Amino acid sequence: MHKKTDFLVIGSGLAGLIFALKVADHGKVCLVTKTKLSESTTSYAQGGIAAVMYPPDSVDKHVKDTMECGRGLGNEKMVRLIIGESRKRIDDLIDMGTQFDTDKDGKFDLGREGGHSEYRVLHHKDNTGKEIIRALEDKVRAHKNIEIYENHFAVEIITQHHQGQVVTKHYPGIKCFGVYVLNPENNTVSAFLAKKTLLATGGAGMVYNTTTNPYIATGDGIAMAHRAKGIIENMEFVQFHPTSLYNPNENPSFLITEAIRGFGAVLKNYKGEEFMHKYDKRESLAPRDIVARAIDQEMKISGEDHVYLDCTHLDHEELIQGFPNIYKKCLSLGIDIRKDKIPVVPAAHYMCGGIKTDEHGQSSIINLYSAGECASTGMHGSNRMASNSLLEALVMANRAAEHALTETYKIKIADNIPEWYSEGTVLNEEMILVTQSLKEVQTIMSNYVGIVRSNLRLKRALNRLNLIFRETENLYIESVLSTKLCELRNIISVAYLIIKHAMKRDNSIGLHYTLDHPEK
Ligand code: FAD
Ligand code: SIN
Repeated sequence: MHKKTDFLVIGSGLAGLIFALKVADHGKVCLVTKTKLSESTTSYAQGGIAAVMYPPDSVDKHVKDTMECGRGLGNEKMVRLIIGESRKRIDDLIDMGTQFDTDKDGKFDLGREGGHSEYRVLHHKDNTGKEIIRALEDKVRAHKNIEIYENHFAVEIITQHHQGQVVTKHYPGIKCFGVYVLNPENNTVSAFLAKKTLLATGGAGMVYNTTTNPYIATGDGIAMAHRAKGIIENMEFVQFHPTSLYNPNENPSFLITEAIRGFGAVLKNYKGEEFMHKYDKRESLAPRDIVARAIDQEMKISGEDHVYLDCTHLDHEELIQGFPNIYKKCLSLGIDIRKDKIPVVPAAHYMCGGIKTDEHGQSSIINLYSAGECASTGMHGSNRMASNSLLEALVMANRAAEHALTETYKIKIADNIPEWYSEGTVLNEEMILVTQSLKEVQTIMSNYVGIVRSNLRLKRALNRLNLIFRETENLYIESVLSTKLCELRNIISVAYLIIKHAMKRDNSIGLHYTLDHPEK
């Protein structure tokens, strides 16, 4: 069965919802999301969204901090463009109903996080993402032009390949006609055909065995774009958040926001001694790559499984008021953050690379846009600065929508797209074939392709991944399609891209640190 629409949006995080709302006044939108609408990484965002709000902050200062965090590998033109639009887009979010915390004078209560030289992070207590999604979900559900497909899984981007042409990465003018979408409830795959398609599928933290990302973060959009021969870049830059709560039985890991360090919390080793001064003059508020590596090093020296974050010296009332969820979560595990240090450990958190896009969010595939964490705009360089991710998703989804609106009138929906075809007939009754391979990939990536890498580790990782890749492709060919199997395939593709891109880089910079070329 084919479904036709003007705009097809894959993903219901910040990027997907903003794009959908922006284009919906001008045409029909299908919004496809693999679980429920509110389940996205955006919903878990704690610290907030960075924007230039008041002096003494300025676009120049925010640009400088962002470029420094990315160690100069960011694209300054894109960084300036995104930050330059920050204030306008924040106003849009507020107009759509998002509430950010204010101080007693009614001004926004701006926080500060690693790498920021000014207070510029708008937030809603310690659950900013939930508040943003609350406001946007109401608007999206109320819009008559938006059809929502929850629990639907995007499988493949439809290109000339599906019309029988041989599409290699050098094939000129690869075009996106839409996406094949699986409805797992009745096991049917439909072609959703559109004039313009946006991939806003988020990150890929599930490639690692310890991550702050929710289960949806399996890199589906990046893997699909890669299979469709789109350009993917900068995948070696995987950001590990320095402070996830150390609670070995909990997956995904609970995040202890960097904003709490901005508020004065300090990192300590297992003996209770501060250590960040040994690594960077900005100490606990140094950029994330530096802090995560320092913690990794301290854990290696001590042989312990975690370090501590100490908030006990901070004003107790303000602490609980500002970080109520962290207080509650820790207390549920017997940790009273007013009296006890919080055990913390780094966890995979954010994918800086992804689907390469231009300043309008256009990928290298015609009529296919990408925004949010699955895109690579050039904003983050080799290391993303805290709270710049929501900003990038917000601005770029808006820009992609504006650009798409200028072109849809001249595009015809493709009419010669075949039904989904698969030879797979075997109903996979042994989920262990999928779950065990997933664990293996996650362990390989965590042990060999984590915070510190080496040529030897990367080579080993690739060899082992190759075997799992071949087994999974065979399983995919013979099986009836399932979400879990598709996700495993996507995770393997993303792992492959991370390793390959890491192998190509012959220096240590930002989030890519290799023992073969230590940073000077
Ligand atoms: P997401 O919000 O992840 O949404 C992706 C959507 O795509 C989901 O709806 C998902 O279900 C859907 N999807 C994925 N694959 C498919 C498929 N195959 N078919 C259909 N649907 C699919 N950044 C900040 O700037 N500030 C913060 O304070 C902050 N805090 C964070 C805290 C945590 C715990 C984490 C994990 C990240 C945090 N980040 C923060 C990063 C930030 O939240 C994300 O980068 C951002 O929300 C990504 O938004 P997105 O719209 O690109 O994707
Ligand atoms: C945090 O709150 O520490 C996460 C912020 C981010 O990832 O930008």
